[in-house]
Amino acid sequence: MKVFEIGDYSQGLALHAVERPEPVPGHGEAVMRVRATGINARDLTIMHGSLGKTVMPHTRVPLSDNAGDIIAVGAGVENVRVGDRVTMSHYWQWLDGDWHASMSEKDYAATLDGFLAEQVVVPAAALIRLPDSLSYEEASTLQSPGLTAWNAVVEAGAAKASDTVLTLGSGAVSVFGMQWAKMLGARCIMTSSSDAKLARLKELGADLGVNYRTSPDWPAEVLELTDGEGADIILNNVGLGEMENCLMAAASNGRIMHIGANPVVHNQEPQEPPVLTKLPNLILKNLTVRGIIVGSRRMFTDLIRAMVRNDIRPVIDRVFDWDDVYDAIDYMQSGEKIGKLVIRVT
Ligand SMILES: NC(=O)c1ccc[n+]([C@@H]2O[C@H](COP(=O)([O-])OP(=O)(O)OC[C@H]3O[C@@H](n4cnc5c(N)ncnc54)[C@H](OP(=O)(O)O)[C@@H]3O)[C@@H](O)[C@H]2O)c1
Repeated sequence: MKVFEIGDYSQGLALHAVERPEPVPGHGEAVMRVRATGINARDLTIMHGSLGKTVMPHTRVPLSDNAGDIIAVGAGVENVRVGDRVTMSHYWQWLDGDWHASMSEKDYAATLDGFLAEQVVVPAAALIRLPDSLSYEEASTLQSPGLTAWNAVVEAGAAKASDTVLTLGSGAVSVFGMQWAKMLGARCIMTSSSDAKLARLKELGADLGVNYRTSPDWPAEVLELTDGEGADIILNNVGLGEMENCLMAAASNGRIMHIGANPVVHNQEPQEPPVLTKLPNLILKNLTVRGIIVGSRRMFTDLIRAMVRNDIRPVIDRVFDWDDVYDAIDYMQSGEKIGKLVIRVT
């Protein structure tokens, strides 16, 4: 079977296809034939050789998003059968209950080989069966951005119809955040660097848009759009660089969901972290800042049920073929997309 390995990244991207033996499932494992996967921001970082403190071996197979079908099961597997259409979260050990930082040690595409492969051995306990109404391409958008936004808006954010949800950018997490907010009847404001993208985001369901490039003081616009109140829930899909602005745009008792890890610029010196001069707003407005790390298998199951019940479709900007993976990376890096990119595998 074919997989892509990240290769020797010391001189830049070195992703290349190699042949590997077909995997054999052990006890409690299954083999997924991958039908679709997708690129996320963290995959670009991984392809450049590291994620946080984890240094990648040159043989690492990237991409954590996945949807496929089961072609073999090992001993002791009862929850899935050959032929089942399935998906799973890349932090597969978080099945239910509270997150523990040690769960990040088993992370598909970072500490384990990921899904830019024709076949992958997966733990059966992590698998979720897909409804017929979701295509492989659609299902492969959900693991990282869909679930992260679900956790931020529905679980940790506990958004309600009277809330205003503000979500930064037109990327995958942001667009899913808007979809979950609208599902709950909340009002949704989105930001973008492009008026054309804002117009499209409104067609997709956003109530209001603010251009953060032409309006650098965009929190002032958010306050104006909310009669001076601010946003109840903010998805900071950018990172620490936007924390000050989020503190300014938040309503009293607001919840700021810290999701983004500032876009990483490769081959450049790391930037100094910003000095937070607006921190008194935390106390003055009684704000909560909450770190979000994707979501559990239980949350993922809830998400899929809600999609079916409410007929929600992921926003896929473009689907690439397996042989066009470099085109997908180029398009991802161009910043032109809205929502998700998908790669069709088999
Ligand atoms: N915590 C977690 O568990 C978790 C999970 C998934 C992703 N993430 C992180 O969340 C971030 C977003 O992920 P993604 O998949 O949505 O990325 P993405 O699809 O690549 O989207 C990134 C978008 O960010 C917007 N952006 C960039 N700078 C901005 C700024 N200063 N203000 C507002 N928007 C800005 C851009 O929107 P416009 O083009 O419209 O300007 C861009 O399209 C990444 O850092 C990713 O690593 C974290």
